[in-house]
This record gives sequence, C-alpha cells and structure tokens, in this order.
Amino acid sequence: MCILSFPTVPCQLSSISNSYIEFVCLFCLKFISFSFYGFQRNFIISSISSDLFSLCLSCTGKSLGGTVIGSARCKVFTTREGRVAAAYNLVKKGITNLCVCGGDGSLTGANIFRSEWSSLLEELVQKGRITDTLAQQHDHLNIVGLVGSIDNDFCGTDMTIGADSALHRIMEIIDAIMTTAQSHQRTFVLEVMGRHCGYLALVSALASGADWLFIPESPPKEGWEDRMCSRLESSRIKGSRLNIIIIAEGAIDINGKPISSTYVKDLVVDRLGYDTRVTVLGHVQRGGTPSAFDRILSSKLGVEAVVALMEGSPDTPACVIGLSGNQAVRLPLMECVEMTKLVQNAMNEKKFDEAVKLRGGSFENNWNIYKLLAFQKPAQVQSNFSVAILNVGAPAAGMNSAARSAVRLALAHGHKVFAVNDGYQGLANGAVSEMEWHSVAGWTGQGGSLLGTKRTLPKKDMEKIVETIAKFNISALLVIGGFEAYEGVLQLFEARSHYNELCIPMCVIPATISNNVPGTDFSLGADTAVNAAMEGCDKIKQSASGTKRRVFVVETMGGFCGYLATSTGIAVGADAAYIFEDPININDLKTNVEHLAEKMKKDVQRGLVLRNEKCHENYTTDFIHKLYSSEGKGIFDCRVNVLGHLQQGGEPSPFDRNFGTKLGVRVIQWISERLTENFRQGRVFTNSPDTACVLGLHRKVIKFTPVAELKAVTDFEHRMPKVQWWYNLRPMLKMLAKYQTSFCEYVPGEIEHVTRRSLSIDSGF
Ligand SMILES: *[C@@H]1O[C@H](CO)[C@@H](O)[C@H](O)[C@H]1NC(C)=O
Ligand SMILES: *[C@@H]1O[C@H](CO)[C@@H](O)[C@H](O)[C@H]1NC(C)=O
Ligand SMILES: *[C@@H]1O[C@H](CO)[C@@H](O)[C@H](O)[C@H]1NC(C)=O
Repeated sequence: MCILSFPTVPCQLSSISNSYIEFVCLFCLKFISFSFYGFQRNFIISSISSDLFSLCLSCTGKSLGGTVIGSARCKVFTTREGRVAAAYNLVKKGITNLCVCGGDGSLTGANIFRSEWSSLLEELVQKGRITDTLAQQHDHLNIVGLVGSIDNDFCGTDMTIGADSALHRIMEIIDAIMTTAQSHQRTFVLEVMGRHCGYLALVSALASGADWLFIPESPPKEGWEDRMCSRLESSRIKGSRLNIIIIAEGAIDINGKPISSTYVKDLVVDRLGYDTRVTVLGHVQRGGTPSAFDRILSSKLGVEAVVALMEGSPDTPACVIGLSGNQAVRLPLMECVEMTKLVQNAMNEKKFDEAVKLRGGSFENNWNIYKLLAFQKPAQVQSNFSVAILNVGAPAAGMNSAARSAVRLALAHGHKVFAVNDGYQGLANGAVSEMEWHSVAGWTGQGGSLLGTKRTLPKKDMEKIVETIAKFNISALLVIGGFEAYEGVLQLFEARSHYNELCIPMCVIPATISNNVPGTDFSLGADTAVNAAMEGCDKIKQSASGTKRRVFVVETMGGFCGYLATSTGIAVGADAAYIFEDPININDLKTNVEHLAEKMKKDVQRGLVLRNEKCHENYTTDFIHKLYSSEGKGIFDCRVNVLGHLQQGGEPSPFDRNFGTKLGVRVIQWISERLTENFRQGRVFTNSPDTACVLGLHRKVIKFTPVAELKAVTDFEHRMPKVQWWYNLRPMLKMLAKYQTSFCEYVPGEIEHVTRRSLSIDSGF
C-alpha cells in the first residue's frame, strides 16, 4: 500500500501550494509494481521532500527502481502490530490524512486502519510511546482511496490508474507481431494479464480484431474447441494470413477449469497443423512510459483526492475517487470494494452472465461488440441500400478503425458499401468505388486515412455531389472527419430543400486531433495526438539532460482549439500552456517567466511551456521564445520546438482503435434503422433534422445530435464548440505547476452512489 499524505496544517483551501502538501509512503502492503503514473511527473516529484521519501526506503529496505513512492508487499501492515507502528509514524509526522493507492486489498486494509485508528492511538498512549495530548491532536484519520490496477477491475470507476498504459504495451506487441507475420502464415496465442478480470484481454481483442478471445467472466460453452478451429479455418479461407487468439491469464472453461495458452496452441497444431506461437506478455504490461490518458487520469484523481481530504471530517465515510466519463467522482470506499467482490462471487458460483453485468455497462458493451464483430459475415440477402463512406479534413488516427467496422457491419446488414476518395471533392468527382469484406482487413492498426481525405466543403460542388448520389443510388452518407466534416453535413442538410437526393440519412463520426467538433467530448485521433505530443515533449526534455538549466517553448497544433495543448500540458507537467480560449496578456507572461525563474533557482532543471499555434496573433512562438530568453538570462536558456505533423501520430492508440470500432458499429446500426424507417414507394426519403447527426460521446453516453441543433452552439469563426468541457482542467494545470491557484475555479467531483442499478443503467461506452 502506498500512501501519500499531507500533514495537518490549518487547511487553506484557497491555495494548494500554501497548504503545504507532502507525500509520504509509510509502509507497503501489497506488491503493485506499476509506477505512479501521472503523479510521478506532475504531482509527487514536485512535492516530495527527500527526508520523507527515505521513510519509504527504510520501509522496503531497498531501492525502489521506477516507482517514486515505492510499493512492495509489506506483510507487516496486515498485522495489528504493524498497524500500531504505522500509526506511530503518522502521529510523529503529524499526519492525519491519507491517500491510499492500490487494489481492493490495499483499500480494504486502509479502511481497517481507519476504523482502528482510535484504538491504535490508545495502545500507543498506554505503552507510553506518545503523549495523551498528541493522541488528542490526531484523534481522527481521513482516508481517500485511488484505484491503481492494470486490470481495470474495480467497480465504480470507468478506468483504474494503469490500465490504459498496459493496453499501450499490449498493442505495441500485437503491432510488432502483425508486421512480422505478414510474410508467414501464422497463428498467435497471446496471453495477457488478468487473473480475475478479462478487461485487458477484451479490449486488446477488440482493438486488434482477434479471431478468438478467452476471458474469465465468460467462459466458452462446451465444444468451443471445434468452433474455434472452424473459425480459424474460415478466416484462412477468407484470405487472412494471421490468426490472433487472445487469452486472459485467468481464462477458465465452463466448469471452472483453467484454459492455458499452451493447451490452446497444442489444439491448433494438432487439429489444423498451423504454425502456432505462444507469447506470454508478463511484466512488460506493467512497465514502460505511462500513457497520456493515465497521466491525466492520475493527476485528475490525485487533485480530487487531496480536495476530498481537505473537506473530510470525522463523519465523512472513507471514499474512493473514481472516474465517471471525463469527471472525477467520489464514491463510498467500502461499497465499491463489496461490489468488486460480488463479481468474483458470481464467477465462483458460475453465474457468468451476472459477472459480465456486474463489471459495468462499458465492459458488457465491449463484450457485445466484440462478439458482434467476430461473428458477423457478409449478408446473403441484399438490402438494396447503399452507404457511402468518406473522410474529410486532416488525417486522424482511428478514422480507419471506424471505417473498417462500419464497412463490415454494413455488409453484414446487406448494404452495398461505397468508399469515396478525397472527401466531398471526391464525392463531387464521382471518385467512388465499391468496398468488400477484405478491402478493410488490418485497418484498425493503421494511422492516417486509407480512404484519402480532403478539407474542401461541399457548398460549391453541390450540383455535382447530387449527381454522384443519384448515379450510384446512394441511400446514406457516413462522413468521418473533423470540423469540415460537420460543417459539410450541415451544408448538405441545409440544401435538402433544393435537392431530394440529399434527403437521406447522414452522420458524422468526429475524427480530428484538434478535438474541436461540436457534439462530442472526444473526437477520434485526439488521444493518439496527445500521446504523440507527450512523447515529443518527453524526448525534447531528455535531449537536454546533462546541460544547464533550460526552458523549452513547444508549439502544438489544434487550430484555435486548446485541447491538445492543455491535455499535453497536464501529461508532461508543463509550466504553462497558452491557448486561445484563455487569453494571455503581458502580466500573465510576466508572472509565468518570474515563476519559472524562481523554480529554476531552486531545484528544477527543465522548464516546458506549451503554446497552441493560434493562441495569440501577436505573442507568437518566436516572441515567447525571445521573452523567455531575455528574462531568463543568467538563470536559464530557452529553446523552441514546433511539434508539427508528428502530432497526427503513427499507429492509433488503443483508445482510438476501440472508440473508432465502436462508433463504426453504432453508426451503421443507426443508419440501418433510419433507412428502413424512411423507405417509402421504392426510395429513401427523409427531411427531418434528426437524420443528419453527429455521433458523439457526452460524458458516458453515446448520442446522435442533429447538426441543425449543434449550429447554435458552434463558434464558426474559430471552428470549435462555444463551450468546451475540458476548460475546467486548466486550474489543475496551474496547481500542478505550483502556481498560487484559487480553489474557487476548481470544480470538485460529485458524490456518487454505487448500486447495482447505477452500474447497469450506465449507457456503457
Ligand atoms: C432487393 O431487390 C430485389 C430485386 O429487385 C428484390 O427481389 C429483393 O426483395 C430486394 N430486397 C429487399 C430487402 O427489399
Ligand atoms: C495584434 O496587433 C495588431 C496591430 O499590429 C492589432 O490590431 C491587433 O488587435 C493585435 N491583436 C491582439 C489579439 O491583440
Ligand atoms: C436505389 O435504391 C433503392 C433503395 O434506396 C432501391 O429500392 C432501388 O431499387 C435502387 N434503384 C436502383 C436503380 O438500383
């Protein structure tokens, strides 16, 4: 168990740096070898004092490697004696607030510790180790939990800290296997971690389009051996060179007997004679650089934890900070632990459907979509509808996964599918070709836009677009792209009154690194872009190791939208992120430079300032560079980097692959429904606004919003939504950069209750 905590000082809620936060590891209960992702950079290192840090070293008695706070199995804490010693350490340091990060075991331990607190202090007083006064000064202990687990196996939170990074590691390996397998026909059996929880296996199977998947929550029915082999055979016949089987460490059959990766391998070799390899992904899944998502998540949850501790009183029950959509929320600790145990109980009792349900809506939805995609086939009966798919705007990672699942599901629904090259312009020029099942093989892992994309809008080509729609008898349009994709569909929608051909269902899947499309919290490609920008910044910082103090000014893309700069800033622990939405003036710049100079004089060697490309027309990147260079003279030097197109990313991140796959499925389900609904007298006709939509994620809910409705909430001049949800991450960026920030701007997490019902009604995305 790792503990970060701060001494009880009179809480000054106005400022986090005033409240003198120190992070302490006192003892370790359980081996969790993941590093403290985001904290490492943003939170702990900047606040830890070497003196308190050594407390942890003496606890483990050895060097801690990559983990800052250190976490190791510490049996001591499971005994009353150990907890007495821990209480003594805490009281001596004046600590009465603990933030515990770990799995359900650690959190349970922490709760026991809290409930025993007064008796532990009594014992210390009786033994004469502390005085009565000291005991009274520390008479109650506040506890807040954070869930660190790569398995994402904790009820109540959408994601646990570490799970996304583990997915990154797994996808890197799958990508490497896919590349080497191009030249050989091979079957890979991949064993991923997850003794009780199939999350990692499930999500990697979805992201890689695996042929077969074993998870503990849903063991295969009797006779799976035959079904698996025939699935592999049929995929070979369809022309696939590579079969992937993913197996969670804890996979079992219907009788609860473990299914091992070697058993599966031997089966494939014996029955089919395929060249088969087993890869067991052991601890690599826990190592490596944390992903952007995990860094932002842990910063978000960490800040919320501290605020929850500050607001805690003897009557508040211990809570755990979880993620709900994109927000941090406070949940009752013990109820969450209980819920988590219910999943295991359901599995033990072989109530597998219930186990999948108890994992939450998102898990269930992933599982349903995986099954849907794995089992679908081109339809035998034609629907006589045709769907055209195009990409619009700059390439973004995830566009291809969305196109892949949309093409396959549309074919499974019996539609004809047309690919349009080069966006609206291609539609005008009739650059249309028919897609088949295999046209999209292997598309999930590929970056960029395989359909070809252009930025042009349809307005000036409307006549020719209408001609193409008529010529190919196109009955629905799916546009995957950025702001122009949305603006284009709006133009097509508004032209419906002139052209009957445009009275067909149309939908936008937002895909842009700028994340500036109205109607969604996240667009495809944004996660990959933040990861790419973060890796860029990490490298830039490393490049200067061994040199003297240096500040980097890094320019990010994003148009007028500051999402990329802000998120990257949190992920890399930037000292400032200048964006258009949060206008800067000369006083802000002055404060930033002075603040950085102060930090540099003390213990910091590297500074990093991000600047969004369009943040200010006169305070250019060059100007900021010169300003920092002049003002830093004698303290630090300053260098500029423009990240440029590397932000469009290479391979899509696991999040973008899955998000794309799921949106592609959802959009075709919607299109098919709209087509049948609006088919009359031998043709499709609809002029209602709710058949021209943007498909997006709103917190946890995936929704279709009519473009006509979004028009009112769009800032067309700056090409972004008028209100942006991520804007309230900005105060956090300042807090983490150690500015004197006011909590007035901080929006605390809501208090949620966990019930079975709340888990099952969550829309599940
Ligand atoms: C598609 O068209 C063919 C030929 O006109 C017809 O036989 C078939 O029933 C149609 N399919 C559907 C689903 O309407
Ligand atoms: C930048 O400078 C120009 C004059 O060169 C001025 O008109 C404009 O308002 C300035 N822009 C901003 C955002 O202050
Ligand atoms: C055009 O598509 C409609 C369905 O929207 C279908 O009923 C019709 O038969 C198609 N016409 C031709 C000429 O293919």
